[in-house]
Amino acid sequence: MLLPALRIVVTGGAGFIGANLCARLATAGHEVTVLDDLSTGDAQNLHGIAARLHVGSILDPAALDQVCDGADAIVHLAAIGSVPRSVAHPMPTLAANAAGTAEVLEAARRHGNLHVVFSGSSSVYGANPELPKHEGLLPQPVSPYGASKLAAEAYALAWAHTYNLPVLAFRFFNVFGPLQSPEHAYAAVIPRFVDAALAGRPLTVHGDGQQSRDFTFVHTVTAVIEDALVRRVTSSTPVNLAFGGRVTLLHLAAELGSLLGRQLDVVHEPARAGDVRHSQAANDRLAALFPTATAVPLRDGLQATIDWMRTRA
Ligand SMILES: NC(=O)c1ccc[n+]([C@@H]2O[C@H](COP(=O)([O-])OP(=O)(O)OC[C@H]3O[C@@H](n4cnc5c(N)ncnc54)[C@H](O)[C@@H]3O)[C@@H](O)[C@H]2O)c1
Repeated sequence: MLLPALRIVVTGGAGFIGANLCARLATAGHEVTVLDDLSTGDAQNLHGIAARLHVGSILDPAALDQVCDGADAIVHLAAIGSVPRSVAHPMPTLAANAAGTAEVLEAARRHGNLHVVFSGSSSVYGANPELPKHEGLLPQPVSPYGASKLAAEAYALAWAHTYNLPVLAFRFFNVFGPLQSPEHAYAAVIPRFVDAALAGRPLTVHGDGQQSRDFTFVHTVTAVIEDALVRRVTSSTPVNLAFGGRVTLLHLAAELGSLLGRQLDVVHEPARAGDVRHSQAANDRLAALFPTATAVPLRDGLQATIDWMRTRA
């Protein structure tokens, strides 16, 4: 059966997850419009993808009105998305992530109660030591970034309750894959590791390397988001978008070395403020809402990331 194409706005669509999502949605025949201020995103990420790019900020209601006119749904990914950046610059993070989300929700309301899929973060669990992280845990963010994502999620769920807005608030866990830049000062660990390994440099680990993460390949995330849009999935509570893997940074370095066929040197630097120690998702809610969702295995995702990184050299 052919499903009708949707008109989808992707805020932050020129970023890492956004451009991967736009590629998937456009290939599936959906009409995709991106709103991105290109602060960390890059128009080049959308090269060859049938998506319309509108350069502007989610903090600008007029820009939101332009892209939301006639839309069916919004995937809200735009954010200042880094813990260390939020530690250095807390107020811009608060504005873009918390107030910006409220602007997106208001735009969804103005345009006929559009379906909103929100990209929350595992960083909201913060200092809560319980593992795995299930959505009923007390959130205890330990960085301005985590606090801003918690505020944004609370706005999204409150707007759903107050205004009957159809909302699905995901919590992503360490997403990685092609288009994730290793370059900027606040780059995530997998692109940094892959970039260093391919260049023959040692891998830099902050702290002892025993901290663990639930790494999720980006195509796993975009497949679930597409399904959520097509089936118009909503939830009155947040939903972890991860599958319960738990990998230490030292294990990650070893896995990368095994894929590249050589042992990689690791250098340790002091642990960073705002970083959480362990992260691993409980995925019962995800499984209930998306019974057919499966995760791309870490090794396959790492290989795809290596392949992409090699094409940029
Ligand atoms: N990558 C992860 O592991 C991860 C984990 C948890 C949550 N998230 C969330 O997923 C979303 C996407 O993350 P990403 O990794 O693709 O980051 P990214 O930085 O690559 O993408 C964010 C995009 O938002 C844009 N943007 C920032 N401020 C904006 C504004 N005011 N108006 C319009 N556009 C703006 C940036 O230019 C960029 O293109 C973010 O909301 C992030 O908080 C990501």
